[in-house]
Amino acid sequence: PLVAVVLAGGVGTRLYPASRSHRPKQLLAIGGDDSLLERTVARVDFADEVVVVTRPGFEDAVGEAAPDATVLVEPAGKDTGPALAYATHRVADRFADPVVLAVPSDHHVDGDFEAAARRGARVATETGALVTFGVEPTRPDTGYGYIEPGPDHGDYADVAAFHEKPDAETARRYVDRGDYWNAGVFAWTPAAFRAAARDTPLAPLLDALDAGDPTGGFDAVDPVSVDHAVFERADDVVTVPLGVEWDDLGSWDALRRLLPADEDGTVAVGDVDVVSLDAENNVVAGEDVHVSLVGVDDLTVVAYDDRVLVVPTERAQQVRDLVAELERRG
Ligand code: GDD
Ligand code: MG
Repeated sequence: PLVAVVLAGGVGTRLYPASRSHRPKQLLAIGGDDSLLERTVARVDFADEVVVVTRPGFEDAVGEAAPDATVLVEPAGKDTGPALAYATHRVADRFADPVVLAVPSDHHVDGDFEAAARRGARVATETGALVTFGVEPTRPDTGYGYIEPGPDHGDYADVAAFHEKPDAETARRYVDRGDYWNAGVFAWTPAAFRAAARDTPLAPLLDALDAGDPTGGFDAVDPVSVDHAVFERADDVVTVPLGVEWDDLGSWDALRRLLPADEDGTVAVGDVDVVSLDAENNVVAGEDVHVSLVGVDDLTVVAYDDRVLVVPTERAQQVRDLVAELERRG
């Protein structure tokens, strides 16, 4: 069967302070009436099985948002590498001849996602390779992975190299030479994932899962994304075009691009009243709050709970660094 594995265990660091550990981004209704997770589950309803994988503590909220899906709780939140190793192992246990379609729950998608997903799943089965879904880049975004295509085989192309989150200058070079963005959606058979994850930091996890260790070896691994752990290392990787309008909604600059703006260019997110005086192209987000802006442009202003964030929207990716700093300070 085609098993959609929806990733719903991230906190959503770059949407701080809207997303916090008690209110992760996939449960926010950003840019729509339903939460990001609800929209993601609806997007994969063509799959034979839908499994949502999340970290301990989120399972109740995730179960409510996805009542018809199987909810898997990984032993600890250690980013997408361990989460996908765990989910793939469980899927292989539970289903005969599965092909995994890994789908993040923080995306805006408009178009025939099903067609692309089915094509990718077929290529995964036929080639036994790890399948990435590529998107034509429109800017040197530093928040994405980059896929350097190799020889073309019609339905898919080989991947010559994969580079996760390059700096701005390197991203510019990748865009200029014709790399694709990695959509963060993947397809693989459990055997292919296993083979590729063998010589990576995920190896202790595979061994522990095989041995039936209930903690799944999660104590033995550091947090690592599947992109860094597996895709930057693996040889047998191919890419198919995603072929839909796509963006990652996981940062404030994405909301600037994707959500409708008023006549001042203000994008309002959540239950927020904004008054702008000689202030243009700002993103304002909050819950039950009134925000006034005078003479400032291109800023993101966010107020949730007792926290306020102000950042130039073009530097929104750095909110990740800010949250790391806040954690260091306790
Ligand atoms: N279960 C689980 N456990 N899910 C997680 C965890 C975890 O520990 N950490 C993150 N996730 C989920 C997030 O909720 C999100 O839905 C998805 O995994 C991807 O995580 P992000 O943190 O949003 O990744 P990213 O956007 O920085 O980068 C990835 O996606 C980009 C495209 O959107 C990479 O694959 C990039 O290469 C790619 O370009
Ligand atoms: Mg993301």
